[in-house]
Amino acid sequence: MIFRQFFDSTSSTYTYLISSGHGREALIIDPVLEKTDQYINLVNQLNLRLVKVIDTHIHADHISGLAELRNKTKCITVMGENAPADVVSMNVKDNEKISIENIDLTALYTPGHTDDSYSFLMNDRVFTGDTLLIKGTGRTDFQNGNPYDQYYSLFDRLLKLPEETFIYPAHDYKGESVSTIGEEKNFNPRLQVSSAQEYALIMNNLNLANPKMMDIAVPENKNLGFNREKQKNLNGISYDRLKNLSESDEVLLIDLRETAEIKMKPSLLNSINIPYSNLQEYLRKKELTNKTLIFYCAVGERSALAIQISQSYQLKQTYHLVGGLNNL
Ligand SMILES: [Fe+2]
Repeated sequence: MIFRQFFDSTSSTYTYLISSGHGREALIIDPVLEKTDQYINLVNQLNLRLVKVIDTHIHADHISGLAELRNKTKCITVMGENAPADVVSMNVKDNEKISIENIDLTALYTPGHTDDSYSFLMNDRVFTGDTLLIKGTGRTDFQNGNPYDQYYSLFDRLLKLPEETFIYPAHDYKGESVSTIGEEKNFNPRLQVSSAQEYALIMNNLNLANPKMMDIAVPENKNLGFNREKQKNLNGISYDRLKNLSESDEVLLIDLRETAEIKMKPSLLNSINIPYSNLQEYLRKKELTNKTLIFYCAVGERSALAIQISQSYQLKQTYHLVGGLNNL
């Protein structure tokens, strides 16, 4: 397995690159905008294919590299379902899996630092975002943070994992890079409490200054996705138009979502399923020049990216559903 930890010294952020091996699919967790070239260089050197990037929550102290990585590599951007609308191309719910080749991550909803904070469990390790830090925990005083929620996320979710589970946080300010659930249970000063009230008392009296980047980073990070206007400009159509067009024999209706998403919300009638990560391979192999293609997905971002991709395959008649299935 390939597992790399990057550090951004300006914001003290850790970013993780994961893949099951050379030549295979890769994913990145919590990328920092200024470091995206560094990640892409390593991805290329190791002959990886970046297919997914995840943010654990809307960050307040740095601008996320999600949009930049999506624009450069056409990868899928992922956050938990509690993230603000239109930020990413795919949302996951609590306990849902995020899959790349040979690797599954399980999303754990762990609110408290913010109300959109997720942790991601991968076998022997968990990426805890700002929920659980090494000998610390993420502040709970902005972005709908709540010390009681965080107490339950910590004590009822993360600390219930096996003690030997490695924890990889989104930040460290003291030069530590990894810990374990057992070490944190025993030695994290914030976790030596006997009730949620006691924990909230500590968190409500931290009196921290706001992060320097907050006023810039939060609005930027809430605006990473393709908004409706941008989706429309990429041959976007309405559901009515989609229905009209798809009555013709020459039209191919393509659901770009993954199997797990389709299980929860079925595909439209008469469509075929080509998961977005397999789209390039499909377009390369199939003779489609006389067909009209209509793409759709969950929120309209993967389908908008599919329009951009299909342009490089000389396909002229391509449309996509603005807002995706979640908008119907
Ligand atoms: Fe944070």
